[in-house]
Amino acid sequence: MTDTTPETHFDRRVFSGIQPSGGLTLGNYLGAIKHFVDMQDEGGYPTIYCMVDMHAITAKFIDPDTLRRNTRELCAGFIASGIDPEKSILFNQSQVAEHAQLAWIFNCVARMGWMGRMTQWKDKAGKNAENSSLGLFAYPALMAADILVYHATHVPVGDDQKQHLELTRDIAAKFNHDYGQEFFPITEPVIRGAATRVMNLQDGTKKMSKSDPSDRTRINMTDDADTIAKKIRRAKTDPDPLPETVDGLESRPEARNLVNIYAALADTTPAAVVAEHAGAQFGAFKVALSDLAVDRLAPIATEMARLMDDQAEIDRILARGAERAREIAAPILKKTYEIVGMVGA
Ligand code: TRP
Repeated sequence: MTDTTPETHFDRRVFSGIQPSGGLTLGNYLGAIKHFVDMQDEGGYPTIYCMVDMHAITAKFIDPDTLRRNTRELCAGFIASGIDPEKSILFNQSQVAEHAQLAWIFNCVARMGWMGRMTQWKDKAGKNAENSSLGLFAYPALMAADILVYHATHVPVGDDQKQHLELTRDIAAKFNHDYGQEFFPITEPVIRGAATRVMNLQDGTKKMSKSDPSDRTRINMTDDADTIAKKIRRAKTDPDPLPETVDGLESRPEARNLVNIYAALADTTPAAVVAEHAGAQFGAFKVALSDLAVDRLAPIATEMARLMDDQAEIDRILARGAERAREIAAPILKKTYEIVGMVGA
C-alpha cells in the first residue's frame, strides 16, 4: 500500500509529528493521537507519524537521558493508543537524516521576514531573541522538511500550528516557482476543531497542560483507574444541571469541557451528549464520565507501562519505522538535490 515513488506525490499521504517533550496528557490523546489512529484505521492511504526529537532541543537545553526517556514514552503512548507500527510508519525524526538535509535547502528558500513573523517564534523567543537558538528561528523550515520530504498531502495538527502549515505551503510554492516545476505538493492542513481541545480540569478557560504545577488540573496518559476517577470527581463545575442543548454551555467553560471530553471519548458529538444527559446533575454526570474515561484510558496506561518495560522492543520498532520512512524520503531528497543542481551519482 505504501507507494514510494515521487512521481505519485499528489496521492493522499498523511504525515504528522509530536515533540517528545514528556508528560503525555488527555489533551495529547484526544487532541492529536486519537485522530492519528482514526486516520490510520480509515486505511487506503499511508500514515506517517514522527517523534520530532530534533524540534525538542530547539527551545532549551534538554538533558540527554530525559530526551531518550521522553522519546520512548511517546512511542509507547502512540502504540498503546492504537497506532500499529505495521500499518503506520512510526519513528523518531533524527534517525532519518533526510529531514535535516531537506531542511537546509528550505533554509535557503524561506525568507528571514517570513520566519520573523511566526507567532510561535515571537512568543517563545519574546524579548530574548538575541539569546534564542538559531534552531528555534529555523524550526518552521525543519517542520516543512518533515512534511515535504514525504510529499505528504495532509497534515493533522492543532490550530496553533496553522501558521506553520501556511509557511510550509509558501516554501513549497516558492521552491516550485524558483525551479520551475511542480515538485512539492501544496499540503492541506487538517485542523482539529475546538471540540477536541481539552481544557484544565480546575479552570476551563486554560488549556490542559503537562506543565501546570497542579496535577489535579490534568489527566495523564499514565494515570491509573483510581487517579482518573478521583480527578474527574474533583473537577470544577458549576451548580447548574446539564442543559438541553449545547447553547446552554455558553459561558460555562468547565461544564463545556467535561461534555466535550465525554463526547470525544465516546466518539460522539457534544450535542448528542447533552441530549442524553439533559437535566442531570454534574455529580451524576461525572460518575458516567469517570466510568467512560477509566474504560478508555486505563488500558492505555497499562499497555504503556508494559511497553516502557521493554525498551529494546521500542527501539527496534523505531529503527524499523525509520527504515521504512527512509525508503520514501531518500528518493525525494535525491530528486530535490538534482533539481537544485547538486552534482552526485
Ligand atoms: N510543531 C509541531 C508542534 O509543536 C510538531 C511538528 C514538527 C509537526 N514537525 C511537524 C507537526 C510536522 C506536523 C507536521 O505541534
